[in-house]
Order: sequence, then structure tokens, then C-alpha cells
Amino acid sequence: MEINSYSTWLEIDLNAITENVAYIKRMTGVEVMAVIKANGYGHGARPAAQAAVQGGATWCGVARIEEALALRRAGISAELMVLGYTPPSKIPEAIDQQIVVSLFDPSQAETCLNYARINGGRLRAHVKVETGMGRLGMLPEEVIPFLRALQGSAIQVEGIFTHFARADEPESGYTQRQIEIFNQLLAELEHEGLKPPLVHAANSAAVFNFPQAWYNVVRPGNAIFGMSPSPAMHLDPALKPALAWKARLISVRTFQPGQGISYGSIYTTKSNERIGVIPVGYGDGFRRVDNQQVLVGGKRVPIVGRVCMDQAMLQLDTVPDAKPGDEVVLIGTQGDETISVDEVAERWSTINYEVVCGLADRLPRIYTK
Ligand SMILES: Cc1ncc(COP(=O)(O)O)c(C=O)c1O
Repeated sequence: MEINSYSTWLEIDLNAITENVAYIKRMTGVEVMAVIKANGYGHGARPAAQAAVQGGATWCGVARIEEALALRRAGISAELMVLGYTPPSKIPEAIDQQIVVSLFDPSQAETCLNYARINGGRLRAHVKVETGMGRLGMLPEEVIPFLRALQGSAIQVEGIFTHFARADEPESGYTQRQIEIFNQLLAELEHEGLKPPLVHAANSAAVFNFPQAWYNVVRPGNAIFGMSPSPAMHLDPALKPALAWKARLISVRTFQPGQGISYGSIYTTKSNERIGVIPVGYGDGFRRVDNQQVLVGGKRVPIVGRVCMDQAMLQLDTVPDAKPGDEVVLIGTQGDETISVDEVAERWSTINYEVVCGLADRLPRIYTK
């Protein structure tokens, strides 16, 4: 696709996703469930899934059944799992499309069974266990009676999993306690002859911090896109960021002193100042906060005035040659300078996950290999 025909776009390096998955698979030696919910963390669900499968992922994990169905329709033949809630009325489609659902509440199963009977097939499911996340999951003591009740039914439990709340803080001891609770349950299930074949727990942070929680499937999301699971964790240097955000200068003009820039005139030119415009705003997921920077001509330049819905203004005095059509980098590298997703997240007082998940649909995604 022709990049020149866009005024702002995301560049997504699919090879980076493939290699990041392959690296995690080699390192852990177990199956990888690539978590590609929320439009593949903003990278595009289908291309991200294809790249992950190419890197050796045997599973793709999503949050909602609609995401899984869209991947099936797009031709993804890998195992697909819904990690969140599936409305019971969608169970027949899950059965038809071989989508694995999560069961996290014993009371959910009865309704699911009723819908499974309508279809006549067998619903494939993994049981989610609450070990300390305080979100979805049945209590460990509920699992054995639940699995017993399902024996011989239309629900086939193929896996069991839990989710970690603080795997990015290994020194806290919290994840260790979660692992102990989970392991205790696994031992009891083994003893009862009820242990499902697949066991998984490790999100990206646990992939790197808790090898004892790899079991036989790992479930990384953020790391496959080359992002660090938390500002407290250093990203493994083998992982490559997959996403860059670029734009073009669409206007450059010199304003006289005293010119208010953008809504509210919160920035006023002090002298003759060169002000550039990029066609990017909060309608694209670029936040309306002060003190932001982008790269022009390999240099950091400040955004001045309020970010609008579709435009933002740059102070270009340090790049006197900048002209309309020049490339601007909002996330990524230009020359010797890099603005990482983490840097943007810090400016927005959030985490890198929220930055990429907030990238608007209207941003063209250009895929490179
Ligand atoms: C149940 C579950 N597993 C795995 C992940 C992947 O987490 P991460 O992106 O931190 O690797 C998520 C994401 O939030 C999740 O909700």
C-alpha cells in the first residue's frame, strides 16, 4: 500500500510479532496462546493473529465471542479461546465454529448446557479459577464438584486456567501465593482423576518472571507486540516493538508574536514562530494533554496549544527546514531519536496497553513484513 496517500497512519511490523512469538515459544518450550483481544492491542486482530500463528502460536485468545467469530470468518484456523464472558445464546455458534469458552461461575454452566443441547454438539471449555485476581473465576473449592457435575455432559472441559494480578512485581510474593493456590488445586484434581489436559496462567509478565507458571500453555499479549508489561519491568531486548505512528506535516506557517494557537489560546507565540500542523487529534486516540513531543527531522519538537479532534500544532523553530509533506513520528524512531509507547503512556499518566488499545479505527494500518 502507498504510504504517501495517507496523512497519518500506523506502521505495523508483522515480522516483529512473528519473531516475538517464536522467541517466547523457544524460551518457554510450551504452547503459546497469543492474546490478541481489543483488535490485537490496536495492531489489527487478523494480521496480528496470522503473524502470531506464523511464529508458532497454536492458540489465539480474545475477550469476546464476537472477536473470535470475526477471526474464524477471516480464516484463522488456530484454536480460538474466549477469555471473558460468552452470552449463553452464543453457545451454538461457539460449538459450530469450534471456539473454546471460559467457564468461571458454576451457575453459568446450566444455561450453557441448555444452549449446547439446542445445537446438539459439544461445547469446548476451559475453567477459570480465582486465585487472587479478584475478577472472574470460580473458587478453588467449587472446581471439583463443578467438574464432577459436568462429566458425561455436552460440555467438554479441556483446560483450566487462572490469571495473575501482580506478576510484574515478583518481589511482592503475591504471584507466588497465587501459584501455590493453583498448584494445590491441580494436585487435588490429579488425585481425583479430573485434571483437564491444558493448564495455563502466564501473562507476559509471568512469562518472564515466573517460569514455574508456564504449565503447558503460556498466554502473553503485550509482549508479543514488543511492549513491556509494566514500567517496573525491563523489556527483554530480544522483543521488538511492532508499532509506529506517523503523520505528515500538512501546513507550516510563520505567525507573528502574540498569535494564540488552537482552542483557548493556551499557547501564544512570543516572537515570529514557525508553527506546523499534523492531521492527528484525540479523534485518533491522541490525548488532549499538555507537554507532548513528536519527532520532525530527527529532532524532538513540542506540541503547542490544545490538541484538537483532528489536528495538533507543532513548534518548529528548531527544525527550520521542516516543510509540508515531511514525516512526523508520534511513536517510533526517526534518525537517532525514539519516542516509545512507554514514553507516551507516561505523558498520558497511563500504561502502554491503554495507548495502543485507544488507537482509533480510522487510522490506516500499514502492514510490513
Ligand atoms: C485472561 C488474560 N490472559 C492473558 C492476558 C494477556 O496479558 P498481557 O498483555 O499482560 O500479556 C490478558 C490481558 O489482559 C488476560 O485478560
